[in-house]
Amino acid sequence: MLTRASDQTHNLLIDGRRMPALSGRTFDTVNPATGEVIAKVAEAGADDIDAAVRSARAAFEGPWKRMRAADRGQLMLKLAELIRRDEDELVNLESIDSGKPVSAIRRQDLPAVLDTLTYYAGMADKINGQVIPARTDALTYTVREPLGVVAAIIPWNFPLMIGMWKIAPALACGCTVVLKPAEITPLTALKIGELALEAGFPAGVLNVVPGFGKVAGQALVDHPDVDKITFTGSPVVGRQILQGASGNLKRVTLELGGKSANIIFPDADLDAAVKAAGSGIFFNTGQVCSAGSRILAHESIYDEVVQRLAARADSTRIGNPQETSTAMGPLVSEVQMKRVLDYIEIGRNEGARVVTGGSRHGDVGYFVKPTVFADVEHQMRISQEEIFGPVATVIKFTDEADALRLANGTVYSLAAGVWSADIGRVHRFARDLKAGTVWVNTYGPTDIRLPWGGSRDSGFGREHGDAAIENFTEQKVVWIQTGK
Ligand code: NAI
Ligand code: MG
Repeated sequence: MLTRASDQTHNLLIDGRRMPALSGRTFDTVNPATGEVIAKVAEAGADDIDAAVRSARAAFEGPWKRMRAADRGQLMLKLAELIRRDEDELVNLESIDSGKPVSAIRRQDLPAVLDTLTYYAGMADKINGQVIPARTDALTYTVREPLGVVAAIIPWNFPLMIGMWKIAPALACGCTVVLKPAEITPLTALKIGELALEAGFPAGVLNVVPGFGKVAGQALVDHPDVDKITFTGSPVVGRQILQGASGNLKRVTLELGGKSANIIFPDADLDAAVKAAGSGIFFNTGQVCSAGSRILAHESIYDEVVQRLAARADSTRIGNPQETSTAMGPLVSEVQMKRVLDYIEIGRNEGARVVTGGSRHGDVGYFVKPTVFADVEHQMRISQEEIFGPVATVIKFTDEADALRLANGTVYSLAAGVWSADIGRVHRFARDLKAGTVWVNTYGPTDIRLPWGGSRDSGFGREHGDAAIENFTEQKVVWIQTGK
């Protein structure tokens, strides 16, 4: 079992080579379960970002453009094979760098990474144009061309999985990538970059540049030779990216946060609903953009939902992420732990009732007890703002109209869930909920084949499925005058 990463500095990966930052600077990455430094990582500055973008541009104009689409797909399949080979190392690295339980990474993240990679590998040679018979004296058709150099800026809650959500479709489309992992979880992205080289991807097709958002991230956003930014993270940074991207009018896809409602009606299967509501908010220690953080329970079952949810929270196995029996690990960093504890204080001060949890767990690492708030009012900050931690707020509703008003009553629109046996009702909610995904009698599953994303403060654009192909390509019209 790995408790530290390699002692050597984890260097940047630019143009097919591992190299220190031009400034020579490094930063520490920490295991949030222990607070210990696990590795030193090279810290990309604006000059390193420039080198990575140049390399990505050269690869795009050179070997990557000349490669057959089917061969791009084969390289991606080879990468999937190498990820399977090194699965144990990847699982351990992801766990010590982010605090995610190894069992969850094996069950959820890694299969999703492989599914994403093989799905888009199969798509690489199926990106077609159309012949559109516009005139009788011309042959008019479209081709779909790759956009060019893609900057993928990813968060720390699912470093491997969200990274692959962006890399795989970009590569399948024939783009090249500069991947900037979050500064608190840089290790698995570097490992994926190395495996891509081993698989035979040409140098510069996938560059990996750990560094800080304000420096390395911002340099990518400002760079005039980046064509597209695909970002997952906070709404604050999403807005900054949009402004920076206006310089050379980069394409932008933003997947930001949420405050998703999970609505439980009295005619639902209550066992299933409460079980899913629990994992909907406690999975990944609540650090999930689509977490079901607002549980709306009908007044007739409110007390029962609160009590059963609290029992689930109390029975959650919290502890060392490297033990296979652990279901919940720490928050990803001290900053995030403090933020979550602050929100719990805010909730108390607003008059909500802590039914269970409500404090730090232990004094080593950044653990917070799974927490359930009852007597939550819709206007309270804990009901409106994204906490990004294991904090459930349970809110009472009276009827359908009330539930809908509450569910749609935040600035976010990413996901929502509804539990009911009434087929008319679930269709009404599927129609009226403002969300990119509506789950009915389940909560939380995603699949790479289905479009994923939100609107309003949850961002815009869709990832996954065919939508991602549109994100990384552009249509060109070819008009050949033939004469009648
Ligand atoms: P963040 O948005 O700062 O970090 C996400 C990524 O953006 C990281 O790679 C970071 O280095 C980069 N970044 C930061 N500033 C940048 C800039 N000016 N230009 C370009 N890139 C930049 O998220 P943070 O501060 O770590 O977390 C704060 C809150 O954001 C969380 O509590 C949560 O509410 C939300 N969040 C939502 C996520 C989601 O899945 N939608 C993921 C992570 C955070
Ligand atoms: Mg770390």
